[in-house]
Amino acid sequence: MITQDKYTFNRLVLASYRLPFNLITKDKQTQIVQNSGGLVSAILSLSQKMDTNFKQNFAKKILWVGHSEHTKKEFADVDSDKNTFDVYPVNIDPKINKKYYSGFCNDMIWPLFFFFSSVAVMDESYFENYIKANHLFFDVIEKLIQPDDLIWVHDYQLFLLPRLIRKRFPKANIGFFLHIPFPSYEIFRMMPPKWRKEILLGMLGADLIGFHTNDYTQHFLKTVSRILGYENSLRKIFAQDNIIKADAFPIGIDYDQFSLATESIEIEKEINKLTDALGEKKFIFSVDRLDYTKGILRRLLGLEYFLKNYPMWHGRVIFNMVVVPSRDTIPRYQEMKKEIEATVGMINGKYSTIGWRPIIYQYKSLTFNELVALYSFSHVGLITPLRDGMNLVAKEYVASQRHNIGVLILSEMAGAVAELGEAIIVNPFDKQEMGEAIYKALEMNDDERNHRIFQMKNRLKTYTVFSWTNDFFNQLQLIKNEQKIMEIKYINSDIEKEILTNYKHANNRVIFLDYDGTLVPLAKYPELATPNPNLIGQLKKLSSDDKNSIVIISGRDQSFLEQWFGDMNIFIIAEHGALIKKPLEKWEYEIDIDTGWKDNVYPVFQRYSDRCNGSFIEEKKASLAWHFRNCDADFAFVRSQELKEELKEIMSNELSLQILEGNKVIEIKKKGYDKGFAAIKFIDQKKNVDYILAIGDDKTDEDLFKAMPSTSYTIKVGSSPSNARYNLKYQNDVLSLIDKLIGESVHSEMGE
Ligand code: UDP
Ligand code: G6P
Repeated sequence: MITQDKYTFNRLVLASYRLPFNLITKDKQTQIVQNSGGLVSAILSLSQKMDTNFKQNFAKKILWVGHSEHTKKEFADVDSDKNTFDVYPVNIDPKINKKYYSGFCNDMIWPLFFFFSSVAVMDESYFENYIKANHLFFDVIEKLIQPDDLIWVHDYQLFLLPRLIRKRFPKANIGFFLHIPFPSYEIFRMMPPKWRKEILLGMLGADLIGFHTNDYTQHFLKTVSRILGYENSLRKIFAQDNIIKADAFPIGIDYDQFSLATESIEIEKEINKLTDALGEKKFIFSVDRLDYTKGILRRLLGLEYFLKNYPMWHGRVIFNMVVVPSRDTIPRYQEMKKEIEATVGMINGKYSTIGWRPIIYQYKSLTFNELVALYSFSHVGLITPLRDGMNLVAKEYVASQRHNIGVLILSEMAGAVAELGEAIIVNPFDKQEMGEAIYKALEMNDDERNHRIFQMKNRLKTYTVFSWTNDFFNQLQLIKNEQKIMEIKYINSDIEKEILTNYKHANNRVIFLDYDGTLVPLAKYPELATPNPNLIGQLKKLSSDDKNSIVIISGRDQSFLEQWFGDMNIFIIAEHGALIKKPLEKWEYEIDIDTGWKDNVYPVFQRYSDRCNGSFIEEKKASLAWHFRNCDADFAFVRSQELKEELKEIMSNELSLQILEGNKVIEIKKKGYDKGFAAIKFIDQKKNVDYILAIGDDKTDEDLFKAMPSTSYTIKVGSSPSNARYNLKYQNDVLSLIDKLIGESVHSEMGE
């Protein structure tokens, strides 16, 4: 039992394409049958043990939203009260479902995300229906959702759903879990730009996004940063309007369910039947859904290699390969089924004798008892997917070892390999390695078998499906708490009112405004980020109030700022404080400009500019800046670290220099001045300042925020942590705030 839960959610609303059960009518009798797949297995275990494994006030019934042609009433009629979940079926028109489920989900996302990109079919109508189907799920959820519910969305069929929920219920608690791999950026970007953006934004509607492995998490973070430009730190993504966490949660199994089952009489009976049928023969077992990702055909080739090269095992070993029917209405799956059957026939034809057939192939679903008996009875579990998000079968196999005799052969491509390192690990593309692994497993002595299984069991016992869920829910609560802290920092109507009221009553105000990312959106190249007439108009109005000193405080050089603001009633602080210009006066140097050091630094910058495609140097009066906004982010990051190292060496001779790290820019300048220093100097010279507002978005604005007196209103644009007192979500919000300040100026002029 897990007791360390800290979350305070009320009900669990679960959304997945599959409901745990389907209704099947046979001989006029409607039966309820379990759907297949790892997602259903995992969540079903949860729902069955909600009361024993979760905190008391967590409502015991899961509300499970999933696709079905049947109605809620039909489920209720068949289902007695024994289930610990309420089913909310989502009816999808078969025409939509075909393009949504068979099309977009299983003919596009599935192959692409499993790295079979060449067979992914990209059809615009698939995506249209994917959107429609996600809306159908939303329609059902919208009607049942309550505050304090935890809505947990599962898997690739519902990528768009978190955002749909977020838009309608901004404060909802939303988790998303992906049960399949998340591919590398290079694969993900193969999708049309519109689709990939929608998918990422859809997922980012959640507060917490879970993956099976660290690799998939990293792929996702990189993809989000490359496609949406959202930065991350410690797995927190700073989207424009929220902080979202992405992390690895390797799904576990209900260990006790399998382990205890092996001691039951029913399983004993099943095992006895197997012993009677197979006698002394060794038994190799595999079970997978029909799927090309499971490596079934390649596994057969591995088996053939074994049979060919180890004839001493002929007649002494049986391979039982169970393939569970899945997606068999999709042509690719039908073709694969035929191919599997032909290959089984070929191998059996080649090696069978009158009394022995090497492969027993079954195309069917197994009952729980049959499955556990087969796991427990077998000497070798052969689990060799070409790629798998996790692979629960591997974990169930280990947990079901009654006498620890089974040897697990596991593909290195399964997510489960991270926790099952004592298995014999194979590359599923290498038939020789698989054949030799079978031989090694069959020959392995009992001590070694026992040791390996024992180690793996210990690990699976500690991180079960319940620990997985608790871990996920706790993390969700933590990120919710963190968002709440940010929420307090976001400027709400009360804070805004205070900022405006104090503005109105002040007589000597200073307003520091950063330029890029604050007054104008960030652009690919600095010269493209120019102020539009509206902004110019706003600044003119704001600066026309005699009580205001408007200061544009920027890292930009003097000529750019002069060009746009030189003729206005505005103070300009350029190059992070190196130069200042009072309205309609000449520029003054705030520091002693000695630029001899540039001769040593420029060639270094030049070298990095040559070595990093897309980067460029900006030469300012008092500094040199190397910009890498338009480069491959990871590559440029490595280069920027190298550059910093090299600069440090130069700086050991030039002690007066300082490195400044901005947003995708490294700048080198003389020590002793920064935006904070310049702003304080400005305020001191002004005297009797009774109102300070400072707005910025960049790392270099943190100097400004830190330096300001505590009564000032310091505002960071964006959602990342900052020294500023408040945050504004979007750059555009700055312009709205300026409009409101102008409004206050006008009112006070009119004596209101
Ligand atoms: N399973 C099933 N019916 C069967 C045989 C197995 O539902 O006839 C279950 C099995 O116990 C496991 C799940 O299907 O929990 C398969 O999960 P896995 O992660 O291995 O693969 P997935 O099907 O999700 O790709
Ligand atoms: C995997 C996926 C699930 C899916 C299951 C069965 O486990 O992660 O989302 O439900 O396979 O596939 P199916 O197409 O039958 O739903």
